[in-house]
Amino acid sequence: MRRHDVVIVGAGLAGLRAAFEGITAGLDTAVISKVHPLRSHSCAAQGGVNAAINPEDNWEDHAYDTVKGADWVGDEDAIDLMCKEAPQAVLDMDEMGCPFSREDDGSIAQRPFGGASFPRTAFAADRTGHAMLHTLWEQAVKHGTHIYEEYHLLKVCVDEKTKRACGIIAMDIKSGQVEYIAAKAVLIATGGFGRLFASNTNAMINTGDGVALAMKAGAHAADLEFVQFHPTGLKSSGILISEGVRGEGAYLIGKDGKRFMDKYAPNKKELASRDVVSRAEMMEILNGNGEDGAIFLDVRHLGREKILEKLPQIRQLSIDFEGVDPIDAPIPVKPTCHYTMGGIRTNKFGHSKLQGLFAAGEAACVSVHGGNRLGANSLLETIVFGKITGKEMVRFVNEEGSVEPETNTDDMVEVQKIIADLKARPQEGGIRPAVIRKELTEAMNEYCSVFRDEERLKKALKAVEKAKEDYKKVCIDDKSDAFNTELLTTIELGNLISLGEATVKSALARTESRGAHTREEFPTRDDENWMKHTLAIWDKAAETVSLDYEPTRVTGNPRYAPVERKY
Ligand code: FUM
Repeated sequence: MRRHDVVIVGAGLAGLRAAFEGITAGLDTAVISKVHPLRSHSCAAQGGVNAAINPEDNWEDHAYDTVKGADWVGDEDAIDLMCKEAPQAVLDMDEMGCPFSREDDGSIAQRPFGGASFPRTAFAADRTGHAMLHTLWEQAVKHGTHIYEEYHLLKVCVDEKTKRACGIIAMDIKSGQVEYIAAKAVLIATGGFGRLFASNTNAMINTGDGVALAMKAGAHAADLEFVQFHPTGLKSSGILISEGVRGEGAYLIGKDGKRFMDKYAPNKKELASRDVVSRAEMMEILNGNGEDGAIFLDVRHLGREKILEKLPQIRQLSIDFEGVDPIDAPIPVKPTCHYTMGGIRTNKFGHSKLQGLFAAGEAACVSVHGGNRLGANSLLETIVFGKITGKEMVRFVNEEGSVEPETNTDDMVEVQKIIADLKARPQEGGIRPAVIRKELTEAMNEYCSVFRDEERLKKALKAVEKAKEDYKKVCIDDKSDAFNTELLTTIELGNLISLGEATVKSALARTESRGAHTREEFPTRDDENWMKHTLAIWDKAAETVSLDYEPTRVTGNPRYAPVERKY
């Protein structure tokens, strides 16, 4: 058995930022990742990271924009903390060597982004996540972080006596060997689960393993009904075309060639918050102003030089995946699943309900995004709460959690049995994992999307229940140990099904429209009954999700009093 003080699952920005705190505080810190760390999904973030670093801006305005963007269901104390800490968090990255784009005077360049009252999005062209991830990876290597590369999380383990997280079980993908990695503190930083939806901007790896397994270990998941649909995924593949493109001045147009956002958001137009823009696009498409299920992002007027300097990646993506050069023609785009506002419920310091288990980044629900995240607050969340949670884990290990918890060897037996059973399933009467996955993700896309209602959500629930039943008969061809990707995608599918159940049940129960959750039969926000977080709780015996609620944390700041949200 392996042992470390701290085990971090996920090597994206939140995980590596937390690891920096652990390793520089002298703790034995390990990071496990199912891919090479530089292939973590943070690498795909394009447009930038928000922080009030311009002397004419201030963190209070950033916080207000975030509270409003969240449609008043974000926790106000956590939002204040994030926005206050944002400038230092970005400057930390700058000092570590992150190559941010610059103004002529050498200051960090910032661009406008959706829902923001000031151009406060710092960026590295349209490859910001890439630049930040490489910067933190250099730090991880420099400080000797123990990296378990290509290790797949299989279980979050709990010491049954103390009810404390005591480590994880993971598979070494190279050999197929299952290993127990014991720790005094465990951080889940595995990102979101956008792969639950057929059309998405997410990497293949975004299957929510950490969120599902933390929930099954006893942590609560929260606000899973709030799923963000990014307004500009490429029509054919869903690949992200950054909001930074609109930040640089691009327009959304229908097949009639005209801009339409002034009808829906007269002030901010294309730079309204994402939920507003995605709904507007869907309305245009439903009203016949789309083409082949998409509308268009027009960049042509920005000119070749600016496109090449500020938006080189999106130009290449459009050429490679849509066959369109944005210098010459509008890009066909549509709303596409991008981000899960919900995740493992934590307090401001990253503690989940299960002692010793922490979460940060998209895998967590702190909740700074509430019902709708503002663009470029995601990278910010990773570096602010990665840092805060990392420091808190150091404190926890040195003070409260210094005694090694007992490891539970039954867990190894259980996990090995699950794997052996999956491999032993007969082909006859069995169902291929790809079949289950296709049906599930297509149903989520169809019935739990930008616009929802009871009828559609019930169809989504039926699809989830079918997937759950079918999964009992799932069978695979590959019985080998080394790089058995068929086995691993089947395990990921199991996690997606649990998260699908939690997402749809949460969405069915929330009988109002707020942020990205639009119920057509309940078109308004209901602050009297719904200023609260949905908690999804795993019932081990029944193998099902039940719901509970917790009030949104408000600070009493009169500026945050809920009003109608307009852009
Ligand atoms: O549009 C984008 O560049 C995405 C940014 C984000 O999700 O924060």
